[in-house]
Amino acid sequence: MNIVVIGAQWGDEGKGKIVDYLAEGAQIVIRFSGGANAGHTIQADGKTYKLHLIPSGIVHPDKISILGTGMVIDPQALFDELDALEKQGISWQGRLWISDRAHLVLPSYKALDKAMEARRARPLGTTGRGIGVSYAMKAQRDGLRLADLYGSIYETLSAEDRAFLEPYRARLKELTIDLPTFMAGNKSKRKLFEGAQGVLLDLDLGTYPFVSSGSSAAAGASLGSGVGPKELDKIYGVFKAYSTRVGNGPFPSEFTPERDGNLGEVIRELGREYGVTTGRPRRCGYLDLVALRYACVTNSIDALVLTHPDIYDGFDEVKVCVAYEIDSERTEVFPSSADDLEKARPVLKSFPGWKSSLTECRRFEDIPNRARDYMSFIEEYTGTPIHIVSVGPGRDQTFFQQEPWTSQ
Ligand code: IMP
Repeated sequence: MNIVVIGAQWGDEGKGKIVDYLAEGAQIVIRFSGGANAGHTIQADGKTYKLHLIPSGIVHPDKISILGTGMVIDPQALFDELDALEKQGISWQGRLWISDRAHLVLPSYKALDKAMEARRARPLGTTGRGIGVSYAMKAQRDGLRLADLYGSIYETLSAEDRAFLEPYRARLKELTIDLPTFMAGNKSKRKLFEGAQGVLLDLDLGTYPFVSSGSSAAAGASLGSGVGPKELDKIYGVFKAYSTRVGNGPFPSEFTPERDGNLGEVIRELGREYGVTTGRPRRCGYLDLVALRYACVTNSIDALVLTHPDIYDGFDEVKVCVAYEIDSERTEVFPSSADDLEKARPVLKSFPGWKSSLTECRRFEDIPNRARDYMSFIEEYTGTPIHIVSVGPGRDQTFFQQEPWTSQ
């Protein structure tokens, strides 16, 4: 059986934690897109792990972890991360493999990423990790894959690029596999496909041009891992009880001081909303159900995973965005134009706060009625059930409504 986990907002929904939770039942964990722009935090056995490139399954000693074809890999960041994991007592040798069709990020790409960003009339707020340039080189057919580290393509690289790659070449080669063959040989295993970023940062579905350049959508799990789309049995979309966005771009439900006072700062501090990769403070806003329903529909999300509802534990009321007003017209359709999204004002619906501590809940039955009502509304609006809830960083603070590794 194969499960896909994607972010259903602008990334940072808590996917790392959910993948860690679901990895318990998996045999293989495959990260299928993005690069060192991502930041996944996991707390396990009293330790905190911060991952950028390595799949979150790595902290489970008996699981195989794969970096998939859809990723762009900075070798220096990769080996730095592996060294850091080793220092934290995680051994990865013999159970971490990389698709030889994945592309590499070269130092010149990172420099170009930053230079292009500085030249843009409307900067995107990229992480500066060379991600967009790598995917552009791939699309231009000028990229460098792991499979091409030895051979004629490598010979065409500049002396500078070859000097950078030289210390990594043999180490990378040892880790590469032919992923489609590996996947075909492991058809009967339980596999978990781990997305990066979120649907609204996906190159095709996201708030273009304010997106990342990989495929963060569920469909990316297929191409990015070398399996056909029919192999994806269940798709989970992870969302936070509020919204955040790092970097620039439209954010219709973003808190504003005029309307919401200091709510933005309060939520940022309660949720520790600072980027794992760049340390940037995240922009915060109301849960946007227009965007969430769009994510559900465009990704065939079977079930939602709710994270951080406990942030609202002390609140008198909890609001969600149920429509946009654009040029005085009300709409529930998620617009394709960034200009329209910039103009959109959120139409808010209020729920009474539950005023009790969700962090203590360990089963669905423990969730107080008011919080259940709020969740039922989200399910109804999006037409998608909430199957998993996370109420804190600990492994025991995640629980499910329906056993994840079953085919319903
Ligand atoms: P890039 O991926 O570095 O090109 O950045 C493009 C946009 O995606 C910027 O707004 C980044 O802040 C955002 N972004 C990239 N990776 C992540 C992530 O893992 N979480 C949240 N935002 C991200």
